[in-house]
Amino acid sequence: MEYTLEYFQKSADYIRKIVPWTPEIAIVLGSALGPFANSIEDPIAIDYADIPNFLVSTVVGHAGKLIFGTVAGRRVVCMSGRFHSYEGYDFEQLVIPVRLFKLLGVKATILTNAAGAVNAEYRPGDVMIVSDHIKMTGPSPLRGKNIDEFGPRFFDVTRMYTPELRKLAWDCAEGSPLTLHEGVYMFFTGPQYETPAEIRAARILGADAVGMSTVTEALTAAHCGMPLLCLSVMTNMAAGVLEQPLTTEEVFETAKAIEGPFSDYLTKIVSRIGEVAL
Ligand code: HPA
Repeated sequence: MEYTLEYFQKSADYIRKIVPWTPEIAIVLGSALGPFANSIEDPIAIDYADIPNFLVSTVVGHAGKLIFGTVAGRRVVCMSGRFHSYEGYDFEQLVIPVRLFKLLGVKATILTNAAGAVNAEYRPGDVMIVSDHIKMTGPSPLRGKNIDEFGPRFFDVTRMYTPELRKLAWDCAEGSPLTLHEGVYMFFTGPQYETPAEIRAARILGADAVGMSTVTEALTAAHCGMPLLCLSVMTNMAAGVLEQPLTTEEVFETAKAIEGPFSDYLTKIVSRIGEVAL
């Protein structure tokens, strides 16, 4: 499948007919981090399935809706449920959400995800501000004919996780009960959790956390020059760090336990994002 600008415009045209204003900030909510969406004021929710040329979320715990509304006085669009390669999507398809945000006029994107902690100093429930990523598996989502209207064929990613937004995320952590870190996220395709040997390798390579999402969206944002912040919630210690096997229950329980403080933290970032990115 070769994507064209018109392909993405079709989704944006549909949304513009329903939402009469321009969202400033896009927020992608990761596994089990969906409850933030409940705090959106005057929400307009659109099912992914109703949006032409969009994708549908197949993951349990992902609502599968785009929610437009207001948070801390800012116009936002929130993706409650995202798309992953392990669902069967091609990497090239995973550009769709961020390109839609760009066409809608979004000025900054915040990605969140659930991740396994590789760094032994991290604890479940801690939050990592992503400073960079390692993606060694799967093709680039930007593979294929370049769409120059979004960005150039070859593009720099050294400031992909926007330094000014990372600094803002640190400033907003003050007074929060959350424990914050800043580190490197390493992408694995899943859906299996990693092997203990893969986690040891990831640590040697410089990863602090591992997960199955985010990097495709981050690369798409970098391609179209979109300022980006990414927050990873450590829902578990990665495979082999502890004696016991990983469970999905643990991932959801940890995310649930910090849901309140994490939502407050995100809201604070949204309230102050105009200082650096809009
Ligand atoms: N590995 C990959 N993805 C994850 C993990 C993990 O340990 N925890 C939550 N998402």
